[in-house]
Amino acid sequence: MSGIDPNFKTTKSIVEKHSDHDVYGPVEPPKKLGIHGSIVAVDFDLCIADGVCLDVCPVSVFEWVETPDHPASTKKADPTRESDCIFCMACEVQCPPVAIKIFQPS
Ligand code: F3S
Ligand code: F3S
Ligand code: ZN
Repeated sequence: MSGIDPNFKTTKSIVEKHSDHDVYGPVEPPKKLGIHGSIVAVDFDLCIADGVCLDVCPVSVFEWVETPDHPASTKKADPTRESDCIFCMACEVQCPPVAIKIFQPS
């Protein structure tokens, strides 16, 4: 397991929107859920619901969403408020499976 693909924006396509953020596919529920978010990106297929991202984020970007029957975990940290991110990077650094990648708009 090597973490979220840092190049997913070129190797994957946006297949849907979820709570105002992009979802990069393929998405084949319940087993394949793709990557949620373009500023704060969370690979739902790698997220194991550790929860440190919700604990450390100073601006409450993340919210739990239920993902019944996903093999890695049955809830995921959804970047519901990704546009509030202040780029502290704590989530990206601390997520155990390295499921988060931050993109600071230039
Ligand atoms: Fe999931 Fe990593 Fe957060 S495992 S809950 S994205 S710390
Ligand atoms: Fe929060 Fe991660 Fe941004 S901890 S402020 S979403 S870099
Ligand atoms: Zn989402």
